Amino acid sequence: MAIDAVRSSPATTMTSFWSYMWIPTLIILLRCVGSADAHFGIFMPNQRSSSTCPAPDPDLYYRPVIGIVSHPGDGDSGSFTNATSASYIAASYVKFVESAGARVIPLIYTEPPEKLLKKLDLVNGVLFTGGWANSGLYFKTIRAIFKKVLEKNDGGNHFPLYATCLGFELITMIVSEDNNILEEVSARNQASTLQFTENATIDGTVFERFPPGLLKKLTTDCLVMQNHHLGISPGRFLDNKKLSRFFELLTTSKDENNKDYVSTVRSWNYPVTGFQWHPEKNTFEWASPRIPHTEEAIQVTQYAANFLVSEARKSINRPPAQEVLDNLIYNYIPTYSGKAGRGFDQVYIFT
Ligand SMILES: *[C@@H]1O[C@H](CO)[C@@H](O)[C@H](O)[C@H]1NC(C)=O
Ligand SMILES: *[C@@H]1O[C@H](CO)[C@@H](O)[C@H](O)[C@H]1NC(C)=O
Repeated sequence: MAIDAVRSSPATTMTSFWSYMWIPTLIILLRCVGSADAHFGIFMPNQRSSSTCPAPDPDLYYRPVIGIVSHPGDGDSGSFTNATSASYIAASYVKFVESAGARVIPLIYTEPPEKLLKKLDLVNGVLFTGGWANSGLYFKTIRAIFKKVLEKNDGGNHFPLYATCLGFELITMIVSEDNNILEEVSARNQASTLQFTENATIDGTVFERFPPGLLKKLTTDCLVMQNHHLGISPGRFLDNKKLSRFFELLTTSKDENNKDYVSTVRSWNYPVTGFQWHPEKNTFEWASPRIPHTEEAIQVTQYAANFLVSEARKSINRPPAQEVLDNLIYNYIPTYSGKAGRGFDQVYIFT
């Protein structure tokens, strides 16, 4: 009997369900037909949203934009253009930034300095990419932008900088005021570990969001990609007063000859992080079979990107929306450069 009762009840329920179906249908129809401010005394959309969605922190900015400085060339040794005015940004840096909730404005290094520095007013942080150019106009441009980044921070605008590989080498030269500070290192196309220095700060650095298990894995597994022939040894770095007063040495890595070099630093007083390694490659570059793509390696890219953008949200800069749209990277079309199976998978080329 009990079973029969249970069996018969769905039919009853279905009948009553269908016979009352007209109520929600009518409400939906009225809501669709009615103007936005018609509430009919049933749903109060404003009330409802305020009761379930607390306002985000008003001190943070949720539409951050990162400026990425373009590097000389086309990213593939002239496969696409040999124009001397050409410069490029590997799309992996753009995706890295986008993956953490920010958009990108290219800072095309050949643009007139006034125009370029003005563009810094449209962004909430800057990224210097890898590459090879360490002199001439490119070096001058990086130095001018670096100076502006420090000025903005000194002026009370939290304005982060990520300097990757060549970018890190250049700010090492700029801060030390020594263009010969770098040493030869054998770390081309090599995945490596990160060894944390004794007492390395974790809170307030790029590593602050890494779960403890992943931090430990960084020291035992090759989760970061290196691709450089220059670097600086920890001894030379710490002995240089200008460098050790400006930067905290966070990690070192070993090259193919077991020689230690500085692999991650952060400024003591500015939201500036220097990477000898490539946080963007694990998720977004595929040409070299050495690039780690394990789940942990992908997390390294994600946590590194999240820290940059979380710092950029602290920026007080609120650039005019239209000017941002006019300058976003979406105004340019990326080139699939990786089909030949080498170099970058995608690049933005500026001519
Ligand atoms: C650039 O120069 C190289 C070397 O001369 C040549 O092989 C290549 O085809 C040139 N690229 C273009 C796009 O013309
Ligand atoms: C790390 O901290 C310990 C304890 O405070 C101290 O004895 C040691 O000298 C520190 N090491 C370095 C390299 O600063």
